[in-house]
Amino acid sequence: MAEYSVITEGLRKRFGDTAALDGLDLAVPRGTVCGVLGPNGAGKSTSVRILSTLLRADRGRAEVAGCDVRTQPRAVRRRIGLAGQHPAVDEILTARQNLCLFGRLFHLDHATARRRADELLARFSLTAAADKQVKGFSGGMRRRLDLAAAMILAPEVLFLDEPTTGLDPRARAEVWEVVRGLTDQGTTVLLTTHYLDEADRLSDRIVVIDQGRKITEDTPAGLKRAVGGDRVEVVLHEPAHLPATVAAVGAVARGVAPVVDEEALRVHAPVSDGVSALTEVARRLQEAGASVADIGLRRPTMDEVFLRLTGRAVPKPPPVDPRGRHRKVSPRRAAREQAAREKAEREWAERQRIEGEWVAAREDSGAGPAPGAAPAAPAATRAAHEADRHGNGVSAA
Ligand SMILES: Nc1ncnc2c1ncn2[C@@H]1O[C@H](COP(=O)(O)OP(=O)(O)OP(=O)(O)O)[C@@H](O)[C@H]1O
Ligand SMILES: [Mg+2]
Repeated sequence: MAEYSVITEGLRKRFGDTAALDGLDLAVPRGTVCGVLGPNGAGKSTSVRILSTLLRADRGRAEVAGCDVRTQPRAVRRRIGLAGQHPAVDEILTARQNLCLFGRLFHLDHATARRRADELLARFSLTAAADKQVKGFSGGMRRRLDLAAAMILAPEVLFLDEPTTGLDPRARAEVWEVVRGLTDQGTTVLLTTHYLDEADRLSDRIVVIDQGRKITEDTPAGLKRAVGGDRVEVVLHEPAHLPATVAAVGAVARGVAPVVDEEALRVHAPVSDGVSALTEVARRLQEAGASVADIGLRRPTMDEVFLRLTGRAVPKPPPVDPRGRHRKVSPRRAAREQAAREKAEREWAERQRIEGEWVAAREDSGAGPAPGAAPAAPAATRAAHEADRHGNGVSAA
């Protein structure tokens, strides 16, 4: 079996004048989680779409689970799972019926499909809602059900494009747990995210892309080290103690002057040997009689890594507004929210189009599992399900 589950070499894709991908190289070892980070428009979704056979690259090569995406799209679709931002679940069916239906589409027998559905419902905290129609679900519940549907069978490679955008912290933690469970079973996961803590916690390696190219790749810890390693940070009660603190931190700083935030009364600097530097600073501050509000050793956050590497702040996902629509907002905020909604609508329309392309591609290639073949991938089957839903209607299997 191939050592790498996802390989891209010099992948290029243009949309008119825009180079969405400009020579992307990736290599994701089998059974690992690769987090793909990048600012808006970096090419994350474009790469996921090419790797999941929704879109053809203009140039370059891509291989998924040992199969070429251009020449063996059908084989690729059999081996992958995909969860995009637009949930592909049936509104009329209940949560359990949805999952049983997908299970049956994957050729699980009735009892196994039902067992797997119940397992996933429990895992995603949907047991209480199992027998309710999806049309009454909140956005977060739909997302969780959609992710569950992408995980009916443990696919060889799972693509998750912003899997937890809009989920509350508990639901995010549930998704992470499921992803870890899948990797324990050998699934390779490529996930894009705007949540840096998510990439940090889940990924074996993080690839940062910008303007269609990889700008760096490392482990989460390696990335943080590269951006500056540990920092000693002191926060004071009194401005009078700033000079002594700058001297104390300066004595252990690694070749640069400490950064001083006079307003927040904070002094910090990068250090080489974190623990002994911290002890030394504490000793000096005590000697100087400084009144310290907080002292500690701080790793750079992924936000700092991102800013340093791309020169841009982390894009924030569109806000989820739990307070309903009857609240007062400033005109500027209303305009921002309107822009975010319009962007979400454009993305939704685009995903609709993608799913259409997928169904067409599947029909062109005569896809669908051959008798005795491995079950079709969740992604392909769910696209077929979408086609059925829009065309002939669907009944629970
Ligand atoms: N179907 C399309 N038609 C025209 N331009 C497109 C299309 N799809 C993507 N692009 C452009 O390609 C670039 C990369 O888009 P992509 O969706 O891959 O970015 P992304 O990294 O996923 O961004 P985001 O974080 O906003 O999801 C962007 O400039 C985008 O506008
Ligand atoms: Mg995207």
